[in-house]
Amino acid sequence: MAQPITGKTVVVTGGSRGIGLGLVKKFLARNNTVIATSRKSSEAQHLHALHQQFPERLIMTDLDTTAKASIASWAAHVKSAGVKHVDVLVNNAGLYGRRLQLSEFEEEDFLLNFKANSMGPFFVVQQLLQQELLGSAPDRPDGASLVANISSIMGSNTDPTVSAVTRGGFAYRSSKAALNAISSTLARDLEPQGITVVALHPGYVRTDLTGGNGWIDVEESTAGLMAVMESGKPLSGRFLSYNGEEIPW
Ligand SMILES: NC(=O)c1ccc[n+]([C@@H]2O[C@H](COP(=O)([O-])OP(=O)(O)OC[C@H]3O[C@@H](n4cnc5c(N)ncnc54)[C@H](OP(=O)(O)O)[C@@H]3O)[C@@H](O)[C@H]2O)c1
Repeated sequence: MAQPITGKTVVVTGGSRGIGLGLVKKFLARNNTVIATSRKSSEAQHLHALHQQFPERLIMTDLDTTAKASIASWAAHVKSAGVKHVDVLVNNAGLYGRRLQLSEFEEEDFLLNFKANSMGPFFVVQQLLQQELLGSAPDRPDGASLVANISSIMGSNTDPTVSAVTRGGFAYRSSKAALNAISSTLARDLEPQGITVVALHPGYVRTDLTGGNGWIDVEESTAGLMAVMESGKPLSGRFLSYNGEEIPW
């Protein structure tokens, strides 16, 4: 049975544009309190416009997910702002990096992708745990946290539809494969604390990251991602597409 996410506290990293912004809108529309992050929230115009509409329920915060120190101080700030428990964490912030031929890749290209797309989501979980903001909320029977890591089908080694028939993208692809390994391992490690961890593919979506290319728009992607998160089906340790299909690791 579907389980609507409503009246909860939700974190969306990279909430300033693209898929993250779309998710922020969907969570706000369902009466949740949303902590949205951006590297420079003072310049996140779409979030500022939304804040006019939802001054009580949208909290804008600064976070650079490529730096562990930024993540640690952000998590401490969230705690000191009075947040008691994060019910849903969407690790969405990510980047593609430079579009390069095989011969052009430098170490920095891999490092940037790994920092933003693999280590960043890991350290966000680690630091929210450190602040005791993730886990089961004893006062609420349905209070166990959900962690949704926005991965990519490009991180799959065996998907026959996209990843096996495309070339290049070495740094992005491998950083999302690493995120997948982190997701499935976190799912096992955090299961005793009641925390569900799932890797989600948002589709090929027209955003800044794709230079406006894609097969679907943000609305279709985020409607699908919400339906998966609210499906009420077991999610822990799975890799699912926005349309609910299972993606092979
Ligand atoms: N679009 C697609 O087709 C597609 C497909 C598969 C997976 N994905 C994944 O979906 C997620 C969102 O992608 P998108 O297409 O919506 O991208 P986007 O439009 O470029 O938005 C990226 C978001 O991430 C934030 N961000 C970027 N670098 C960051 C950093 N170092 N620290 C913190 N935040 C950072 C940005 O916020 P600020 O610039 O305000 O800091 C922005 O809100 C990514 O993880 C991406 O890999 C996208």
